[in-house]
Amino acid sequence: MPDPAAVNSMFARIARRYDVANRLLSGGVDIWWRRQLVAKVCSQQPASILDLATGSGDVAFALSKGLPATVAITGMDFCQPMLDEAVIKQRSSGGYSNITFIQGDGMNLPLADETFDAVTISFGLRNMGDRHRALTEMHRVLRPGGRLHVLEFSQPYPGFRPVYYFYLRRILPTVASVVTGDRGAYEYLCGSIEQYPDHEGMNAEILRAGFASVDVTRMTFGAVALHVAQK
Ligand SMILES: C[S@@+](CC[C@H](N)C(=O)[O-])C[C@H]1O[C@@H](n2cnc3c(N)ncnc32)[C@H](O)[C@@H]1O
Repeated sequence: MPDPAAVNSMFARIARRYDVANRLLSGGVDIWWRRQLVAKVCSQQPASILDLATGSGDVAFALSKGLPATVAITGMDFCQPMLDEAVIKQRSSGGYSNITFIQGDGMNLPLADETFDAVTISFGLRNMGDRHRALTEMHRVLRPGGRLHVLEFSQPYPGFRPVYYFYLRRILPTVASVVTGDRGAYEYLCGSIEQYPDHEGMNAEILRAGFASVDVTRMTFGAVALHVAQK
């Protein structure tokens, strides 16, 4: 599992170029992945949402756009430079007043039990130093019947793996080092994706954290998975 201090300083280093790198490295597909997550959350009609590992806030902003302004959204991340990027975007938009960005650690959430109707985490769980603890924390802050939405890289269909891993190992770090100046951060990214469980393994981890049920939708030949679990 990743070292939290190393993860924090790595995201601090790439924070300013994070959005540009995402768009370029995914060919813009990352916007579509997040849109699938937001559609699932909106169909649940929650009144309060925690977007954990919010980073530069794209999921929180998309949720705010898709839901009534009365819905309270908390964007939480442990890396202040990533949150600073989110706040810059919020201020320059002049809107999104229902989002509050707060610093906090996903493995020790500074939040009361049973506070939220929905918890979202997009490309964040893979970076947590202790996934079981983070999932247990997300379960704790959800109200009974509330839902957890995990969007994360996964293990793709076997036929797609050679192409995918060639891209991850050979092309992505080189392009990322040009865009962000930080090849090491993206070599970490590739390693963390390779070591991450497949969709069934992730379902099992979510159930082990106390959730009553979980469904998964696989996207882009299985390279990304959206898990929706109920407390
Ligand atoms: C790949 S970014 C994802 C950001 C955003 N959710 C998105 O979809 O673009 C991962 C984020 O997880 C955050 N993170 C990693 N470990 C964390 C922890 N223990 N607690 C809170 N945030 C954490 C990092 O700081 C980073 O902003």
